[in-house]
Amino acid sequence: MIKTLVPPCEALKLPVAKVAGTKDSKKLKCKGLRMELTITQPDDWHLHLRDGDLLKAVVPHSASHFGRALVMPNLKPPVTTADSAVAYHESIMKALPTDSKFTPLMTLYLTDTTSPHEIKLARRSGVVFAVKLYPAGATTNSQDGVTDLFGKCLPVLEEMAEQNMPLLVHGEVTDPNVDVFDREKVFIDTILQPLIKRLPQLKVVMEHITTMDAVKFVESCKEGFVAATVTPQHLLLNRNAIFQGGLQPHNYCLPVLKREIHRQAIVSAVTSGSKRFFLGTDSAPHERRKKECPCGCAGIYNAPVALSLYAKVFEEMGALDKLEAFTSFNGPDFYGLPRNTTKIKLSKTSWKVPEAFSFSFGDVVPMFAGNTLEWQPSFI
Ligand code: DOR
Ligand code: ZN
Repeated sequence: MIKTLVPPCEALKLPVAKVAGTKDSKKLKCKGLRMELTITQPDDWHLHLRDGDLLKAVVPHSASHFGRALVMPNLKPPVTTADSAVAYHESIMKALPTDSKFTPLMTLYLTDTTSPHEIKLARRSGVVFAVKLYPAGATTNSQDGVTDLFGKCLPVLEEMAEQNMPLLVHGEVTDPNVDVFDREKVFIDTILQPLIKRLPQLKVVMEHITTMDAVKFVESCKEGFVAATVTPQHLLLNRNAIFQGGLQPHNYCLPVLKREIHRQAIVSAVTSGSKRFFLGTDSAPHERRKKECPCGCAGIYNAPVALSLYAKVFEEMGALDKLEAFTSFNGPDFYGLPRNTTKIKLSKTSWKVPEAFSFSFGDVVPMFAGNTLEWQPSFI
């Protein structure tokens, strides 16, 4: 494992590839005391960029590491039409730093009244790459979401299968009688299983999976048709993190963190090299005052730390050779898009996560604020 490597690799006279746990010695170098990993530029397949001032504040963090991002549509009002997706795409492009090559890929917000025609328009727009299912009431700005998927949305889902337009799923039931920690499993049993039986040609991404049940479900489906995104928080934290030393609002997201056994199942799945899992940060910024209050919003702002954290997880599992497929290959392959051709470098250099990012409208607190992380990404 790289972590135990204190002297330079040369001094140990070990082949770099063996020390690093990667089979490709070209990708991992040891420069004196510093380890470096060069990988194809990653994409973020699940990102909240917001709009207005918050968009301008946070988009540079994603654009500085990722080539593309699939941008979630849960704005107020939500992005429910191809026209509004085109307009949102334009405002993101305007908010980007000059010279940025970051490409936002847009999504539509599915409602009970979305028409099959809107899916055709979305496909024709050239900027919409998926449709997001929020069960009504499941999470932030989901009040316009779907109340009855099979009763109201089957014609739209059929058109999506026809147009090869993936359905992205916030996989939680909203029944208040179902325990919040069981909502993902119940969603799989009552909605997802019947859905893929009914429409096996529809591509489905189970977003931000949190349980071993989700891992087993995705692994049981046909490869290339059902996949999952995985966040840094669901790889690194279990539900204790919400209560460690007092209530921790910056570790609160939805679906909520689960037990340690679930975290371990997700870590094993992504570091196994399976093509069914790919990077989706679910980076979800909220201004500090909306997190640290009597009824705080769900969402963890992880865009500035995400790549460092994914590298940490793969390193700790001795699976750095599998990192690049997870961050940069499995996502575009699933969506039928070309892989990025640019590269980024991950250097094993300590850096401190800021306590907060301050803007004119207030602060945004990142995941692991004030902590020291070990992997630092940069463009090459
Ligand atoms: O924690 C979350 N925050 N989960 C979601 O599904 C939405 C997101 C947000 O938009 O804040
Ligand atoms: Zn999300």
